[in-house]
Amino acid sequence: MTILQADAPGAVAAAAAVLAAAELVALPTETVYGLGARADDDAAVAKIFAAKGRPSDHPLIVHVADEAGARQFASVWSERAAKLAQAFWPGPLTLIVPRSPGMAAAAAGGQDTVGVRCPSHPVALALLRAAARLGVPGVAAPSANRFGRVSPTLAAHVAEDFPADLLILDGGACEVGIESTIIDCSRDKPVLLRPGQLGRDRIEAVLGEPVADRDAAAPRASGTLEAHYAPRAKVRLMPADALKAAVEVLGSVGGQAAPVAAVYSRTLPRGPAGLPWRAMPNDASEAAHELFAALRELDLTGVPLIWIETPPADIAWEGVRDRLQRAAAA
Ligand code: TXA
Ligand code: MG
Repeated sequence: MTILQADAPGAVAAAAAVLAAAELVALPTETVYGLGARADDDAAVAKIFAAKGRPSDHPLIVHVADEAGARQFASVWSERAAKLAQAFWPGPLTLIVPRSPGMAAAAAGGQDTVGVRCPSHPVALALLRAAARLGVPGVAAPSANRFGRVSPTLAAHVAEDFPADLLILDGGACEVGIESTIIDCSRDKPVLLRPGQLGRDRIEAVLGEPVADRDAAAPRASGTLEAHYAPRAKVRLMPADALKAAVEVLGSVGGQAAPVAAVYSRTLPRGPAGLPWRAMPNDASEAAHELFAALRELDLTGVPLIWIETPPADIAWEGVRDRLQRAAAA
C-alpha cells in the first residue's frame, strides 16, 4: 500500500497513469473515498470486485469529469438527467440512466442501466481529467471499504480495509461524509434509490415533479441492502429518553473493567467516566461529515454495543438516518 499526498508534485499524474494501466487507485471524493478502476476495461473492474469481496452483480458508479463524459455511457440522456446534471454537478449526486450497449458492462453489473456521477472534489476532478487525457473515459468506483463495512472518509480508513498493494491518493477528509444521493432517471418517474446530503426537496424543486421512493422493482444496490455500513459492534438506535435511562443504569453499576457500550448522542450530557462517548453534531451536514469516522472510532474501543441517539425526523437528516438504520439492521 502506498499513500500519496494528492498535492505532491506529479501525484495526480502518477495515479492517472496507474488507472490507464488498468490498475486500481483509491481516490478522494467529496462524499467518501472510492476504489477506482477504468470503467471501459472489464478486467480492471474485476479487480475492484475481488478486492472488495463484493458480488459481481452489484453495479458500480462510473465517475466522469463532466456531463459530456457521462453521456458517453448513456444510450438515452433524458431531459430529467440533463436538468439534474446541470443543477448539481459537479456534486454528490448519482444518476441512473439507460446504458449505452458496449460501455462498462462489468461496471454495470449486468444491468442495462448505468450509474454516473461527476464528483466535486478537486482531486477527483483533476484525476478524472488527467485519466481522460490518457484515454480513460470514466472511472468505476464503489466506496473504498470491504463489502458491508463502514465507508471511508479518510485515506487512513482505506488503508485499514486494504492493507495489501494499493495506491491511495490522499485528499484529506471527505467534506460530505456520506455517499451520494442516487436518482433513477431510467424509468417513467424519478425514483430516490439512496438518500444523501443533497435532499430530495432540492431535487424536486429542479425537476418540478415529485421524486418517488424506491420499490421492489429497483435493482439490487449494495448501498441499499438493509444490513450495511456495519461496525463490528452491534448498533442500537434509541430515542434520547431510552438512551438516558440506559446510561443511568450503567452509571449505577459503577466503574466497569470493560465497558459494555459506547454512546453517540446529540442531546445528552456526557455519561459516567469510562463510558466511551462521542457527541453527535447538532447540524445534519456536520453529523454526516463525521458519521463514518465516529462509527469507526467508537468501534475501535472494542465494545460489543454502540448506542446511538435516534436522529431528528426532518428531511435534512434523511441521509444520516438511512445510514444509521442500516448500521443498526446488521
Ligand atoms: O458517493 C458515492 O456514490 C461513492 C463515491 C466513491 O462516489 N460511491 C459509492 O459507490 O457509494 P457504492 O458502490 O458503494 O454504491 C453505489 C450504489 C450501490 O448501491 C449500487 O447498487 C448503486 O449505486 N448503483 C450503481 N449502478 C446502479 C444501477 N445501474 N442501477 C441501480 N443502482 C445502481
Ligand atoms: Mg459502498
